[in-house]
Amino acid sequence: MKPILVLNGPNLNLLGKRQPEIYGSATLDDVNEAIARLAGELNVSVDCRQSNHEGQLVDWLHEAREGASAVIINAGAYTHTSIALRDAVLALSVPVIEVHLSNIYARDEFRKHSYLSGVVHGTIAGFGVQSYLLALRATQLLVSGSKP
Ligand code: DQA
Repeated sequence: MKPILVLNGPNLNLLGKRQPEIYGSATLDDVNEAIARLAGELNVSVDCRQSNHEGQLVDWLHEAREGASAVIINAGAYTHTSIALRDAVLALSVPVIEVHLSNIYARDEFRKHSYLSGVVHGTIAGFGVQSYLLALRATQLLVSGSKP
């Protein structure tokens, strides 16, 4: 089975240091370790990457067309601005799951709109690090073709 690609966008490299009252105290390494641990339990492989650059995220989404079984993405602030990421998601045939640590619908008005939500399989927001782990569980069910 091809790996599940886990993409993190801008400023998420600063997790743990950046607005911990909103995003929590776990670092991106902590998040990636928790994802890797759960991936082991679920018997799937994951490939976790982070970039502050929109074009790099677009390139990685293109790579996923051939190289991944699914994509989990926290696009950070590009969620609210990037038609390029939306178009790259539309170019994929594998499932894409959108993730946010915070509940973007309970924050600033401009965070309530996501360019990705309308083109992804589903969105998980507001559960901190658990958002990624819930997304991984859901993605594993999707890629294994399990029916509820
Ligand atoms: C975020 C929410 C975005 O609005 C914000 O720009 C981020 C992080 C989240 O995980 O809650 O960088 O995607």
